[in-house]
Amino acid sequence: MAIETARTISPGGVFSGAVRVPGDKSISHRAAMLAGLAWGRSLIRGFLCSEDCLNTLRAVGALGAGVQRRGTEVEIEGVGGRFISPSSALDMGNSGTGIRLLAGILAGHDFVSELTGDASLRSRPMRRIKEPLEMMGATVECLGQGGCAPIRIRGGSLRAITYPLPVASAQVKSCVLLAGLFADGVTRVIEPLPTRDHTERIFTEIGIPLNVEGLTVSVQGFAPSRVFFPAFEMNIPGDFSSAAYWIAAAAAVPGSEVLVEGVGLNPRRTALLDVLRRMGSQIEVRLQEGVEGREPRGDVIVRGCRLKATTVSGAEIPNLIDEIPVLSAVAALADGTTVIKDASELRVKESDRIAAMAAGLSALNIKTDTFQDGIAVTGGGVICEGAAIDSRDDHRIAMSFAVLAAAAGVGIRIEKTACVATSYPEFWRDLEGITGVHVGTSYSD
Ligand code: S3P
Repeated sequence: MAIETARTISPGGVFSGAVRVPGDKSISHRAAMLAGLAWGRSLIRGFLCSEDCLNTLRAVGALGAGVQRRGTEVEIEGVGGRFISPSSALDMGNSGTGIRLLAGILAGHDFVSELTGDASLRSRPMRRIKEPLEMMGATVECLGQGGCAPIRIRGGSLRAITYPLPVASAQVKSCVLLAGLFADGVTRVIEPLPTRDHTERIFTEIGIPLNVEGLTVSVQGFAPSRVFFPAFEMNIPGDFSSAAYWIAAAAAVPGSEVLVEGVGLNPRRTALLDVLRRMGSQIEVRLQEGVEGREPRGDVIVRGCRLKATTVSGAEIPNLIDEIPVLSAVAALADGTTVIKDASELRVKESDRIAAMAAGLSALNIKTDTFQDGIAVTGGGVICEGAAIDSRDDHRIAMSFAVLAAAAGVGIRIEKTACVATSYPEFWRDLEGITGVHVGTSYSD
């Protein structure tokens, strides 16, 4: 079978029109895992049918849940509180959320399970979940070098802990909260900064007792009885992180106007809007009335202008962590130097995103400086035509350079683009629709 290797993008112009992005990735992972554990048949609409979330669905099926999918509608017959032992290692593909959250659940099961993934996932740090899960009584072996996946988990009855998170990570927070369901007593996680709270919202929505006080999130475990919560129905909103490509690029190109419909607007995800407004952008948000499934959603309308540089740091970082690649891309079109600090987590994402963005921007003749925890991008210069950019197999790097090229009106080639299917399979079609550029595809023989 021919495998996609690269995309070429012809020079573009303004971004215009309406777009509805596919379902939220973080919520899709959580909904699939919890529906798999629930009592009864759950119905999830607007599920993200990308490689990452389909891997989670397969894993939930291998753990004993009944999974049926018709397009973006997924029915899951849950196991009623305990998964069965899988017959082989569970392959979570490219997904840090998939592996870390499922590890929390498997830590509560008294069998041995193994979780693995692709080369990128096998290079990402897993000691951050090993430590709390072992404090709770599970055994977690990192079989890869330097504390990386594959991971082997021997779970069982867990004890509740109070865990101050060493890094601001929603994945680690969620891993501990999910393990906490299988513990005897109240498990508490204390965050250094607020991170995305989809786990807290979905727990509350489906009736799992949860308490939030400031930066402390507590969950009452079900042990020694069986984990119990009933099946649920859920409509997943569009993924703000996918919408971010259109929002950020349209904001940076005078004459652009884009409407993104039905997108998730959880305030712990939308700091990009605040940053773009600071850069001079006119952004209108129409919140849908009545909060469905506790996740706010609505439409976003962006009109382009010449942006000015800004600084992004501190508490804003976790709330736009996945949007920093596209933000640093459009910073190349803004007047002045945009500085991003306190973002060392970017070094351990699907790629080292600080290094990947700096290398790609330099190839386009854009001045950058990097620090251990961030990047500075000087905009306003001449962006060179015809560069070849290496995505490093990271979907967000590939999509960020694609919209930058279209916004800057330069043709480029992006190497290693198959990764885009991990989060936004329809991206290239939408790029052509919104910008009028032509996207060419290269395949291996
Ligand atoms: C996610 C949390 C973030 C984010 C990732 C999805 C989640 O990771 O980067 O894409 O679904 O909880 P960290 O919490 O590790 O920063």
